[in-house]
Amino acid sequence: MTTVTFQNNNQKQMNVRALAAKCCYSVIDQGRSLGDELPKQQDKASTKDKGLLQEICYGVLRFLPELEHDVRSLIQKPLTGKQRVFHFLLLVGVYQIKYMRIPDHAAVSETVGATGALKNSHMKALINGVLRNFLRAKENAIKNPKPTSDLPLSIQYNHPSWFIKEIQQSYPEQWQQILNENQLKPPMWLRVNQQHHSVNDYKKLLDTAQIPISSVDPLSQAIELTHPTDVLNLPGFEQGWVSIQDGAAQQAARLLNCQKNDVVLDCCAAPGGKTCHILELTPNIKSMTAIDIEAKRLERVEENLKRLGLRATVIAADATNAKTWWQGQYFDRILLDIPCSGTGVIRRHPDIKWLRKAIDIDALIILQQQIIKEMWSLLKPGGTLLYATCSILPQENSEQIAHFIEHNSDAQLLPIDNVKHDNTIGWQLLPGKNNMDGFYYAKLLKIET
Ligand SMILES: C[S@@+](CC[C@H](N)C(=O)[O-])C[C@H]1O[C@@H](n2cnc3c(N)ncnc32)[C@H](O)[C@@H]1O
Repeated sequence: MTTVTFQNNNQKQMNVRALAAKCCYSVIDQGRSLGDELPKQQDKASTKDKGLLQEICYGVLRFLPELEHDVRSLIQKPLTGKQRVFHFLLLVGVYQIKYMRIPDHAAVSETVGATGALKNSHMKALINGVLRNFLRAKENAIKNPKPTSDLPLSIQYNHPSWFIKEIQQSYPEQWQQILNENQLKPPMWLRVNQQHHSVNDYKKLLDTAQIPISSVDPLSQAIELTHPTDVLNLPGFEQGWVSIQDGAAQQAARLLNCQKNDVVLDCCAAPGGKTCHILELTPNIKSMTAIDIEAKRLERVEENLKRLGLRATVIAADATNAKTWWQGQYFDRILLDIPCSGTGVIRRHPDIKWLRKAIDIDALIILQQQIIKEMWSLLKPGGTLLYATCSILPQENSEQIAHFIEHNSDAQLLPIDNVKHDNTIGWQLLPGKNNMDGFYYAKLLKIET
């Protein structure tokens, strides 16, 4: 049983199941993002446990309704108040038994052992009892399987009901496929810095390093790895030869299609993936300004620029109010990677399913309208704006752009890759298509009047 171990530096390392329960509790009950919370908990885990902690937290958040359903049927009184963290410990236990290749007895005993690390040994018997009952229920279910189709859709598909309804309405033929794709572990995509190597040359370096690839996207040249790997295994990562970026996000720089001497704005730029990609692809632009409202996140932009040897003017600024930061120079190209629901990247961020509420979408739509209007006023006549979201909700995408064009007579929709995509305005990529994230792009020309 691993309750508490010590490293050479005498720093206390906590039980990994206890950390997982705390992390899921922070996300679900306290509304914190997994991206913020997981690293904090990982800092308290031993090096060898960090990966396991991540796998358990992602898994519990991916399968939350189903795990809660399993636990509900085995416990007489729901755990509330100070006992809530033990509710999540039960989910951690059930997740390991159902989905991980950990022997059942080890999953149970290690999870029971976490009660000590959570400073409540009284809960030991309850956790032990519920998990052992779950093992018995699992045996019975194997012998007498029950149809899952009787369960509510939210449990069958592990998504919130409001979201399932939205997706059913918007994608009547693809909704099940979308929800299933959201449950999968995402692949790792690489962006080759073509200032250093051609994609073909970098493929050879990967081959030499025995890192197999599954595909190369013909449009963006993004490389999909067969298995995710530590970035430090990638040839030249620290020297800036390569970055991690999903294939769908790698469409932005090529669609923006910057030209020599262009004055370019990347609005809502942090952590800077697309800013850097634009500079790698078109180093001969006149200037790149990258703005974002979150100063802390802009530190990541600076780090990425530094690692890749690129330069941009980085400003912490509110895109709804250009007066506070704009220097008076109009832009030839604007990438507007607008704040959105993130519903296209659920497979990478399963916490989005539980943190995002139906009511947030209306507020986001209004914010998006304010930002696009303000950015449009900074675009040169004859210039282009690329609107991008990692959302699959038409309200944030095609409907938002249709609304904008209707109210701005100087805005003209440009074709994307000269293709009419599914009869909608712009290009909607659905999650899992070509093994990429869900994304949306629309390209607008400002007509010279
Ligand atoms: C989709 S993310 C950007 C991702 C980034 N373009 C990339 O490729 O790495 C949206 C960003 O919008 C920023 N944001 C939200 N509201 C904003 C506002 N009013 N003004 C400027 N940035 C804002 C958020 O801080 C967040 O970093």
